[in-house]
Amino acid sequence: MVAIYPGSFDPVTNGHLDLISRACRVTDRLIVAVLHNEGKQALFSMEERVEMLREVLRPYPTVEVDSFSGLLVEYAAAKGATAIMRGIRAVSDYEYELQMALMNRRLRPEIETLFLMSGEAYSFVSSRLVKEVISLGGNIEGLVPGPVEERLKRRLQGQKL
Ligand code: PNS
Repeated sequence: MVAIYPGSFDPVTNGHLDLISRACRVTDRLIVAVLHNEGKQALFSMEERVEMLREVLRPYPTVEVDSFSGLLVEYAAAKGATAIMRGIRAVSDYEYELQMALMNRRLRPEIETLFLMSGEAYSFVSSRLVKEVISLGGNIEGLVPGPVEERLKRRLQGQKL
């Protein structure tokens, strides 16, 4: 099975990595696809987000990193994927994910959205909170991969979001 794991990844967290390692067990090929969204103000550029993902995903031979714009299901179809992977951390994720999954199903019924439960150690981790905590001088050790922590520190410490 070829699957897409889409997201903003601004930046990749250990929660994303946990999901990717779980997804690898049930896919032949996993494409981690970074959304190119002109309208959304991101901390890291598309190139930086892709670069960080490629660096931390080097140990996963069946995973590749790409970027996309436009409709996710059209990108998935063009890549020959039959599934979209998403993670659920808590009940609060459910409503948004359900809406997206049902809209995507309406657009392309042949592509199935599959949900994996995040590891409980990461159920509270999000890119947004990690950025907020580090910009206020808090410790984010263990929440993002080492190289990402370094980049966040360089970009954000001492600067409020
Ligand atoms: O990491 P995120 O921000 O939760 O990821 C959201 C993402 C990229 C999955 C979603 O915004 C998306 O699929 N955008 C592409 C545009 C699209 O297909 N929109 C209709 C989805 S119902």
